[in-house]
Amino acid sequence: MRLTLRPLPGKSLADQLQQAGVEFPCGGEGICGGCRVRVVEGEIPVTESMRMQLSEKELRDGWRLACSAMASAPVTVEVEQWSVRVLADDAMVPVEPRRGWGAAVDLGTTTVAAQLVNLETGEVEGIETALNAQARFGADVMSRIQYELREPGELGVVIRGQIGAMLARLAGGRPLEEVLLAGNTAMHHLFCGLDVAPLAAVPFLSPHAGAQRLEAGSVPWRADTLFLPCLGGFVGSDLLAGLVATQLDKNQDSHVLFDIGTNGEIVCASRSSVRCASTAAGPAFEGGRIRQGMRAGEGAIDHVGIEGGRLAPHAIGGGEPRGVCGSGLVDAVARALDLGIILASGRLTQGEIALADAVSLTQSDVRQLQLAKGAMAAGLKMMAGEARRLCLAGAFGNYLHLLGARRIGLLPEDVEVEPVGNAALRGARLLLLSPSSREERVGGILSVTEHVELAADARFQDIFAESMALEPYRLR
Ligand code: FES
Repeated sequence: MRLTLRPLPGKSLADQLQQAGVEFPCGGEGICGGCRVRVVEGEIPVTESMRMQLSEKELRDGWRLACSAMASAPVTVEVEQWSVRVLADDAMVPVEPRRGWGAAVDLGTTTVAAQLVNLETGEVEGIETALNAQARFGADVMSRIQYELREPGELGVVIRGQIGAMLARLAGGRPLEEVLLAGNTAMHHLFCGLDVAPLAAVPFLSPHAGAQRLEAGSVPWRADTLFLPCLGGFVGSDLLAGLVATQLDKNQDSHVLFDIGTNGEIVCASRSSVRCASTAAGPAFEGGRIRQGMRAGEGAIDHVGIEGGRLAPHAIGGGEPRGVCGSGLVDAVARALDLGIILASGRLTQGEIALADAVSLTQSDVRQLQLAKGAMAAGLKMMAGEARRLCLAGAFGNYLHLLGARRIGLLPEDVEVEPVGNAALRGARLLLLSPSSREERVGGILSVTEHVELAADARFQDIFAESMALEPYRLR
């Protein structure tokens, strides 16, 4: 998408780009390179941080960092972060009929999905999806928490305003009876205006993680509003709602609900117990801190095969690749291992891995992936030894290619894996449509849930270090 900017005297272009939705993954510190835009008309002078983050060729091709962009005359830039895939869900769920309309919202760190639901029939009458408008203040939960500590309340205003606008478009003037939201612990706190300081320091446990009812005056809509309670630590109500949707806690055997993102959330559930944990992965699976990483939008390499002994990438939209998203990164490294271009230790046997004319992976990119996948695999090894089945929740799990994920040792080889789509949104809708049994269902899950602090376990560092190797593993 192209954007023409008219600079104000002495002001950087960052504000305008931010308002237009460009994300600043490192909060504008000039150290991640994730806010790149390409100048197609006009001039943005090269700064020191641009020289540090972009190659000579990228600078020649017009790439600049949005966070340090200045101009003295109008300039047109192309932004690569937009048009990302967002998962919605319209599976049928049981209904306890009542009059009117309601809304279910899945508030993710990266994306937001909202549904208008007919409370009488259970039908989904409209869906809105968008990038989380807070993303311009930082890509992952930790950078948002740090921003909130510096500028208390601002992120809450942004997200309540964004969801308010989405609901107003969905409802089209019809009154809403009830709005139910699910999201991770940081999103829960930011939306509800709760103190995030406990989430910024060990042991990362907040006393405000319970269900939050919001008064009509504190949200920009008139309806009873409930943010579902977090499961524990950084495991939020998105996983609680996912459990409601998948009913994994009703099985005799243990099954795992696993959400892979900047934070990996793991819930092991059976009829007798629910154990949950989280593990910080960093933004690599969303293309962050990867030199040519990008979100899963148009032009992102999302799949890599081998043809004639060479890597053969596929880009979303079928055109020329412009960068690589998380699923493409996993696949590319898996195939490069097959070709001997990368060793199991992660070391490249040649300078860079060329994926397409304009896209390649560096040694540092592979190291970022190893850190991210090491954290995920370590979490699974410590939590999911008994698991019969692994249900992948969320967008990344839905688009991930199982073969590549097993090849690099992100997912285990010996457990059945099943993507379950946007289980958080489905669970929130299910609870919206079952008002009389909601409290009992949610309370029942919370009463048997135990939160496990992985980093406090003496074995974690060793298992994490061992899990960084790019090789398949088994849980049993
Ligand atoms: S380099 Fe601009 S936001 Fe990180």
